Amino acid sequence: MRHTVTLIPGDGIGVETSAAMQQAVAASGAQIDWEMAEAGAACIDRYGTPLPDETIEAVRQTKVAIKGPCTTPVGTGFRSVNVALRKTLDLYANLRPVMSIPGAGGRYDDVDLVIVRENTEDLYAGIEFEEGSKAAQELIAFIDAQGAGSIRPDSGISIKPISVTATRNIVQFAFDYAVRQGRHKVTAAHKANIMKHSDGLFLHVAREVAQEFEGKIDFDDKIIDAFCMSMVMDPSQFDVIVFPNLYGDIASDLAAGLVGGLGLAPGANIGHDCAVFEAVHGSAPDIAGKDLANPTAQILSAAMMLDHVGEHACAERIRAGVRAIYAEGTHLTGDIRRTERTSAPVSCSAFTAELVKKIEEQ
Ligand code: NAI
Repeated sequence: MRHTVTLIPGDGIGVETSAAMQQAVAASGAQIDWEMAEAGAACIDRYGTPLPDETIEAVRQTKVAIKGPCTTPVGTGFRSVNVALRKTLDLYANLRPVMSIPGAGGRYDDVDLVIVRENTEDLYAGIEFEEGSKAAQELIAFIDAQGAGSIRPDSGISIKPISVTATRNIVQFAFDYAVRQGRHKVTAAHKANIMKHSDGLFLHVAREVAQEFEGKIDFDDKIIDAFCMSMVMDPSQFDVIVFPNLYGDIASDLAAGLVGGLGLAPGANIGHDCAVFEAVHGSAPDIAGKDLANPTAQILSAAMMLDHVGEHACAERIRAGVRAIYAEGTHLTGDIRRTERTSAPVSCSAFTAELVKKIEEQ
């Protein structure tokens, strides 16, 4: 069956990893008609925005997209394209499977967990008040008048909303995913001991949802700092982990680091109507345009996309090809930790050419 998928290459290494991803998907035998769309810093000059309406409309039409990373300036400038896309299309669930790939230089060889990150609220909601602004001063005065604590007058403020609705949606998603994928445990990570009305609410709702799955899926919870230590010491103890937005963002990179780095970590943003697949990593300006990027993360994101549209055999062919190239160790990019078994690093295009062969052999 043919499928139309929106492809947003994005900025930086997204251009290179997207081209590699298209080759890998073609080698898998999947029949994909790519509909190209633009987003990111590179299209501001042309559209006056990093996220043109045409791109949002394209995803609404095809309902499935795969995107490369988009650059977001730090501290100043426009807000993140990713955050805007996730909010506009209500892509409320961010799904990030993390798995050891033998030969990929990871610290552990027994990691098989899934990060489920709430994608629409928390400190990522983008509700911010600039230091010295009238709104910030009024907010500080209001909080003072409530007796809720005092904030220094020279503060900038970011708001952390966590709702029952979004928490219920994401925890339900995590449990449903665990049931569908034959997993056995969901862990909720939080800082409910300190932030009682936001993380506390998250934990309370997670416990309520967990009761509906009692006897089918185990549930436990971890305070986020203890969670980080446990992850580094023994990631094999985790199965599905559900997070509020910000902790999920940080934990994803931490988890990626345990299995070999950002070059290997795929992801998906899933809503009720649309799904946008993308690697965990950013646009990597330090290596962009140099044919050095590792396209594995975006290629594994494409495998998730193929599963999503029902092309499981093609998805599995891609994953088997990826396992084969890492097991062999002769054609790996420079980000992969070298061992005595791995040869000198190769370019993104040389990696892709070899991976295409491996996928075709499956
Ligand atoms: P980054 O993920 O782009 O890079 C961090 C480090 O990992 C760099 O040294 C980079 O070279 C390396 N790296 C990342 N992906 C790699 C790959 N596939 N192969 C080889 N090496 C790789 O994170 P950074 O530098 O913090 O962010 C750069 C830009 O990307 C920022 O503007 C940020 O806002 C944006 N970003 C976008 C995301 C998205 O669109 N989903 C996600 C994360 C960051």
